[in-house]
Amino acid sequence: MKPNLRLLALSGALMLFTAGLVTAQKTDSLHRQPFGKTPDGQEVYLYTLTNKSGMAVKITNFGGRVTTIMAPDHNHKLDNVVLGFDSVEGYTVKPGSSGYFGAIIGRYANRLAKGTFTLDGQTYHVPTNEGRNMLHGGRQGFDSKVWDAKEVSSEDGTALELHYLSKDGEEGFPGNLNVTVRYSLDNRNRLRIDYTATTDKDTVVNLTNHSYFNLEGAGSETILNEKIMLAADRYTPVDSTLIPTGAIDSVAGTPLDFREPMVIGSRIEDNFEQLKLGKGYDHNFVLNHPGDLTKVAARVTDAKSGRVLEVFTTQPGVQFYTGNFLDGTVHGNGGVYRRRSALCLETQHFPDSPNHANFPSTELHAGETFHSTTIYRFAVE
Ligand code: BGC
Repeated sequence: MKPNLRLLALSGALMLFTAGLVTAQKTDSLHRQPFGKTPDGQEVYLYTLTNKSGMAVKITNFGGRVTTIMAPDHNHKLDNVVLGFDSVEGYTVKPGSSGYFGAIIGRYANRLAKGTFTLDGQTYHVPTNEGRNMLHGGRQGFDSKVWDAKEVSSEDGTALELHYLSKDGEEGFPGNLNVTVRYSLDNRNRLRIDYTATTDKDTVVNLTNHSYFNLEGAGSETILNEKIMLAADRYTPVDSTLIPTGAIDSVAGTPLDFREPMVIGSRIEDNFEQLKLGKGYDHNFVLNHPGDLTKVAARVTDAKSGRVLEVFTTQPGVQFYTGNFLDGTVHGNGGVYRRRSALCLETQHFPDSPNHANFPSTELHAGETFHSTTIYRFAVE
């Protein structure tokens, strides 16, 4: 039978029309608005991801920073549960700029001892920005870059895809590093972050997100009454400059044992050397199930609001940081950010890995692709 050409054309037109409608729907769920100008005059934007349960996540392409996460409590009331700012100035003007609020951290998250590492027999010296060490990628890390942003479709609906090319030699690191970070929010209240990186020369990479959470709501007084579980039998102890000693110690019998849920503040002032050195919790925990996105790596609960945060990751470690260096001088979109009024769960490779052969490698070789995924799931109980 000869195909009816007119019918074919008509159904083709209908398909195009439907596809157009679907695209329009997806566009609606990723809203873009101006977010101000960086100190060097670049326009940046704020993107909002929403889902069917009413959650909203706002991300700016300045530093790929999560500025807001509106999550429901046990009465279905939405509150922002991350520390952030209403415009880009909050992130560029001191003191807010030093907290890495909500940012993508790179090229090397956490610390590199004395700003030095050896790769392929060559010693590299990168700029130091925290005493004698490099912290979070240096003076101009990925947190302060303007990322290219585009909307993409993901399995979960609309996603925001950010891209940044870190040029060979930037902050002292070798290789042109192409980094893509994709944020997506699904209808089960999971914020998923997928990181991908490729390089044209051997280099080192450690990428994370530096969101500060307070499940009671950003600006609430403290996280010390919230409970945390960390699926980690071991951690990497640090010296007085927060550089790992190289040991991988058991948490058993220490105030760093969170294998059963514990109130965060219950042991934070214990007379335990590692807590004194960190001025609280500021440690890399060695996760028991690296690479397994089905096993919970960390779980935080807040009895007041009923909110629960679960973290899943392919990364081998998580830096649990209790906001010890927040000092009440920072005013953000949730009010004043006081000491220990928020916590970070920075999924990552271990700090200073290039200087510790016994840690999982952070080397990325020319032609290889780095991938990692972290999921922050919000729930109530
Ligand atoms: C570090 C802290 C630091 C904070 C903000 C965390 O990842 O471990 O020591 O104060 O980031 O810079």
